[in-house]
Amino acid sequence: MKIIGTGAAHPKCAVTNEMLEKFLETNDEWITERTGIKERRVISSEKLGDMAVIAANKALEDANLTAADIDYIICSNVVNEYVTPALSCIIQGKIGATCPTVDINAACAGFIFALDMAEDKLKCKKAKNILIICAEEPSRMVSWKNRSTCVLFGDGAGAAVVTEGDELKSMRLTTSSLTEVLYYQRQLEPTPYIDKEENFEPLVMKGREVFKHAVTNSCRDIRKVLGEAGLKAEDVKYFVLHQANKRIIDSIRNFLGVDEERVPHNVERYGNISSAALPALLDELNREGKLEKGDKLVFSAFGAGFTTGACVIEWAK
Ligand code: COA
Repeated sequence: MKIIGTGAAHPKCAVTNEMLEKFLETNDEWITERTGIKERRVISSEKLGDMAVIAANKALEDANLTAADIDYIICSNVVNEYVTPALSCIIQGKIGATCPTVDINAACAGFIFALDMAEDKLKCKKAKNILIICAEEPSRMVSWKNRSTCVLFGDGAGAAVVTEGDELKSMRLTTSSLTEVLYYQRQLEPTPYIDKEENFEPLVMKGREVFKHAVTNSCRDIRKVLGEAGLKAEDVKYFVLHQANKRIIDSIRNFLGVDEERVPHNVERYGNISSAALPALLDELNREGKLEKGDKLVFSAFGAGFTTGACVIEWAK
């Protein structure tokens, strides 16, 4: 496969650290030092589906395709206002596509899991052009009274169009059932027959454990995909890493021995937008003209589950 178009969309409401100080026992210094985040965009009047549509249309335009050219849509999403229908069904109608669609939930690693699915579809010739959209609103999973979690996240959407090509050089996905370090339980309707105890609470996170798993697993994944692609870290133009925390990004960069210029970041502006982080950052690099045909890119992400994914892609545009 190869990537031929990218797009992104962010909500209009920018919430700075200073704004959080007004209702949380926190401060800009703590948040900046521990996370690198200065502000995040949070959904207010927008619907997540509408933001996903903006990102999708931008990616289609960038790919010089229309919705009619798309044979399959994969939407990566953890939560949105609908449990059913899938977000991809809503997006499909709004962009005017007619192809089959599917939603996946691999948490923050969703973009890489979606790329892997797309590669398989293209390889067995079941599709020619695939639209991947990652649309996330983690701001609706956290308690805005909990300073340990709500300061970290933001909402947004990122999209990519992929087509047949030989530009995916290596891929590694992992899942290790480690569910207690990061989870969010959905409240279901009661029935007359439920006789088990059910506790619903906002997002639960053991921050330090997540931090350690993130760094260890990402470094391991990146080394493996580089090895499989026959590349060294110095052959890579950009390491496009999950934007959860600048300290996590810096730790991975230091372990790999890579200079700062080759590890772009926008976590300071958007916080952690879950699986949308990677395609949104890729879109920034693409639109700023920082990518050239033939550039080797490494993507790496981690998320609740624990899921991880990494791959090496050659830029084809
Ligand atoms: N403002 C001020 N103080 C805060 C705070 C905030 N927003 N959030 C937590 N604190 C306090 C804690 O209450 C704690 O106080 P205590 O020592 O009195 O108990 C203190 O800061 C240290 O907390 P700790 O959790 O040990 O800090 P940390 O250095 O591990 O940083 C995270 C916390 C969450 C920033 C960090 O662990 C992290 O980024 N983990 C990964 C999270 C992640 O990426 N999740 C998404 C994965 S997809």
